[in-house]
Amino acid sequence: MVDVVLGSFYGDEGKGKIIDYLSKDAQYAVRFSGGNNAGHTIEVNGKQFVFHLIPSGILNPKVKAILGNGVVIDPKVLIEEIENLKANGYKVDNLYISEKAHVIFPYHLILDELEEEMRGSKKIGTTKRGIGPAYCDKMERCGIRMEDLISTDFKEMLQRNIKNKNKILKAYGYFELDFESVYRDYKKYAEILKPYVCDTTTMLHKAIKNQENILCEGAQATLLDIDFGSYPFVTSSNPTIGGVSTGSGIGAKYINEVYGVMKAYSSRVGEGPYVTELKDETGDKIRELGHEYGATTKRPRRCGWLDIVALNYAIMLNGITALAMNHLDTVGKLETIKLCVAYEYLGQREEYFRTNKDFLNNAKPIYEEFPGNFGDISNCQTYEELPLNAKKYIERIEELTNTKIKMIGIGPKREDMIIRD
Ligand code: IMO
Ligand code: MG
Repeated sequence: MVDVVLGSFYGDEGKGKIIDYLSKDAQYAVRFSGGNNAGHTIEVNGKQFVFHLIPSGILNPKVKAILGNGVVIDPKVLIEEIENLKANGYKVDNLYISEKAHVIFPYHLILDELEEEMRGSKKIGTTKRGIGPAYCDKMERCGIRMEDLISTDFKEMLQRNIKNKNKILKAYGYFELDFESVYRDYKKYAEILKPYVCDTTTMLHKAIKNQENILCEGAQATLLDIDFGSYPFVTSSNPTIGGVSTGSGIGAKYINEVYGVMKAYSSRVGEGPYVTELKDETGDKIRELGHEYGATTKRPRRCGWLDIVALNYAIMLNGITALAMNHLDTVGKLETIKLCVAYEYLGQREEYFRTNKDFLNNAKPIYEEFPGNFGDISNCQTYEELPLNAKKYIERIEELTNTKIKMIGIGPKREDMIIRD
């Protein structure tokens, strides 16, 4: 009844497209972690939507879209997304925001920026959306939740926080924030968002009792996980399977299918190790063919080959039961495709991914090669119609991961997808 969609690599695997497809059988779509550092692009009827906060499942009118307690919310961005949906004819009365979700304030954005500057050459390359500082406040227990934002306590809480943050901003040599203007803006946001705020945990528990289908939609990805990713080059939440329970309130035993979303190649945006990165023309070519520029920050993404060592790590960590692969059409435009099947580290062959810094910085990929040049596959509707070279590549990935690739993306549009049973 509860299915989960997670990113298998460093993000931007095309989770939005897979969620959009799967949500047609769901009554609920839930975001459980991250904030507007995410960027999920979906193309429906010639119109492109980019979601940073609202669950992509909302495009399905019968789906109740939930922002769970694990999400951090920039109300300004959320309101813009709501407005954009309304302007495109969506009603948005099917959006529900957890009263427990934490709110992002201007001081979080400023601190994200200042902390990155201070890191200098060791910067993380964050999206500068205030995500890290907002989660810091949550853990520090001075965060302001949605239920606070819409309550009469809000003024006092904000006053206290701005007073404290101004001390830090001053130490950075930055100008201090004016309480009144922040308060005025956020009171306005609170009025607009109030009707959406509720106890989403109970809502989901009732849905489970009623045997309704829930789709939990991951943002970010396994290797960006604060615990299991390439720390410190990670995000500040758990986009892995544990985050589903802590970020929504759904117990582990209710989780059924766990879809791992991947691309037929790989990409990373921001700093940090990346074993199969291509810093050459092939990397540039993949970036252009796959339009690999950030949906959130517009940054060019680093591109490389698919990494089975990392993929198997994601499968083990999350208990992935099925894979969904995007951009088969993109690799099919290359003459030769490489697949990293193991690493070489200190002269040894390694098949297990580790986040140890020395390991990730020095591991070298061991590749198998596959013929590309798939030709035009945009009209293929079944797996059988795919060219032999494409099938060879797919079946080798399945063999190495012992996991079925159930969905294959062959283009950006909603219908550009091959489903296998
Ligand atoms: P989706 O959901 C790709 C990366 C940032 C940076 C690191 C920390 O679209 O897959 P943060 O702002 O979270 O503190 O930045 O994490 N990052 C992502 N990269 N896709 C994302 O989301 C990302 N969200 C964060 O680039 O390296
Ligand atoms: Mg993204």
